[in-house]
Amino acid sequence: MSESPGRTCPLSYRYAPGAFAGPPALRAETLWIAGGLYGNRYALQALLEVFDAEPGDKALVFNGDFHWFDAEPGEFELIDETVLGFYALRGNVETEIAAPAEGAGCGCAYPEWVGDATVEHSNAIIERLRAAANASGRNLQQLAALPMTMAAEVGGERIGIVHGDAESLAGWNFSQEVLDTAPGSAAAERALVQSGVKVFASSHTCLPVLRSFPGGRAVINNGSAGMPNFRGERYGIATRISTRPARNPLYGTRLGAIHVEAMALAYDFAAWERRFVELWPEGSDAHRSYFERIRSGPDFELAA
Ligand SMILES: [Fe+2]
Repeated sequence: MSESPGRTCPLSYRYAPGAFAGPPALRAETLWIAGGLYGNRYALQALLEVFDAEPGDKALVFNGDFHWFDAEPGEFELIDETVLGFYALRGNVETEIAAPAEGAGCGCAYPEWVGDATVEHSNAIIERLRAAANASGRNLQQLAALPMTMAAEVGGERIGIVHGDAESLAGWNFSQEVLDTAPGSAAAERALVQSGVKVFASSHTCLPVLRSFPGGRAVINNGSAGMPNFRGERYGIATRISTRPARNPLYGTRLGAIHVEAMALAYDFAAWERRFVELWPEGSDAHRSYFERIRSGPDFELAA
């Protein structure tokens, strides 16, 4: 494995299966989980609207990387203040803003299938974002103090909430690339059993996944709340886990008493595209790495 910044996974990013034991941090009939907001204020607005409309006993957890494109002090402040009004985990982005690990770069721990140019752009983005965070009025110690994992309970079932995977804040084991392999799938099933959770809800890899396992278990990765997740589509995705089914999920599964679903976040796409270009004009690192995805989605289709 390469040791260059953005490729490595710092030791401080790791946790043990026991992280998900003990009393749950929260219990709710309906749990919304949104990772990868990436500083998109319009996706945040769309998420808060659907969450407000959700009836019954509910909770919202931001499972990391809520910052990224918000590399301007006022923009950073708006995102930070709003998100920290809810439950939140730190992703690699928040960790590298508030408590940078030596040589971690953006802390993405990018695997081999992600190209060098993407890694270099990401390292440059984190530098600019860190400067904006320091210039904002926000207390960055709050970000550094956020947990890496959370156990929740929905309908009597234990849910493990992470940013990366069952072992690391920036792990890629809940990516479709890994889960599509037999060893990757077997490892995920083992991790569910060892951690004592029915569902792992993750995000980091930036592309959505839902995989069911024997014993009523599943891994759901929301991909990105703040960027399109499928080719030609323009909505973000959040995860919803509830004792009641949603009216219009993109896809989902039922595990005994709970429904595990992917929900579209239809944000003001044109407004976000304008704001993104103001923050990251053509030729900038974020524009070069992300503008195509922001405008047209990734090269990935929603499978039946
Ligand atoms: Fe991440």
